[in-house]
Amino acid sequence: MSVVIRDAAAIVAALEDPALVPPPRSGGGAALQLRASMARFSPPAEHPARRAAVVAAIGRIEPDAVAHAATVFTLARLDPGGVDAVSDIAAVVPTTALSSFLPVLDGQPPASEFDIVAAVAAMVGVIGHGAPVTARADAAVSALVARFGVEGASLLYQNYDATAALITTRLVARASGRAAVPAVPRTKRVAAHPHGATGSGEVTLEIGAAGLPFGAGSHRCPGEQLAQALAKSVVETISSAGYAPHLARTEYDSDGRPTRLPLHRIADGRDDSLASDARTPGLSAGGLAPGQGPFRPRIESTGDRHAL
Ligand code: HEM
Repeated sequence: MSVVIRDAAAIVAALEDPALVPPPRSGGGAALQLRASMARFSPPAEHPARRAAVVAAIGRIEPDAVAHAATVFTLARLDPGGVDAVSDIAAVVPTTALSSFLPVLDGQPPASEFDIVAAVAAMVGVIGHGAPVTARADAAVSALVARFGVEGASLLYQNYDATAALITTRLVARASGRAAVPAVPRTKRVAAHPHGATGSGEVTLEIGAAGLPFGAGSHRCPGEQLAQALAKSVVETISSAGYAPHLARTEYDSDGRPTRLPLHRIADGRDDSLASDARTPGLSAGGLAPGQGPFRPRIESTGDRHAL
């Protein structure tokens, strides 16, 4: 039996319940071996030591330095000829910025010999999105673990989808005048000892709508400060460089998070996207008043994109 919990207090209780554990996934290979070693997916017996290790790894990273790197990498990717904030910026900049501050284990080749973003994307595909294990993904995960260790690879994993969604949902919120949709809508747990009455005992926790964007309980996100610093830096850099989302051309997943977010240069203070949105009944070229615009996420994809 599968249960969905939406009430914030009930979600916190579920996340604090040791009888509910992150879903296990069986199988061999480097990607699933990493998954089984990560704090994020650890059952109560192994979790405290693994969490302490990732918390210590996060503590060695200076959020302002990562944010500064993100500013530089974002500026380098902005292009008046056209840029998609999802694929060109959010999928690349947080990983590039964070990875440049992760300690590299001894004997590893220079970063230029290794496409870290592609490797992280392959890791997230298998561990976060349930993609089938492939030799390519396993090789990518092996390379990440060899270079950054289990903790470094774990941080790159957690950062990849969630921070990207934090950036793109904020860009849309800023341009539309509406509240940002949750970057991480939900997480899952299963009964540690499923039995006949509860079946698989899967529990879906709607943390985003319940106002718990960084979770709760023993697995609560330890990367919040880093993620906020990264997202703020990227969003501010895009805005101060004079770029804004083209809302009429933006596409969304079933949770309202952008899957395609074209940015365009606002020339001489005039926002072309608002001019084109103004053709939509109810919107003046003067812009959207908070909560009053006609903007509604257009649902283009139903892909499951929460890789937490
Ligand atoms: C630099 C970026 C980030 C890092 C390094 C990071 C790190 C982590 C780690 C290591 C965990 C597992 C903790 C444990 O199991 O003890 C975690 C969990 C979590 N993170 Fe983050 N995170 C980042 C960004 C984000 C963002 C942007 C969000 C949401 C907006 C988020 C939401 C969460 C949530 C909800 C959990 C708990 C998942 C669960 O209990 O099932 N994280 N994060």
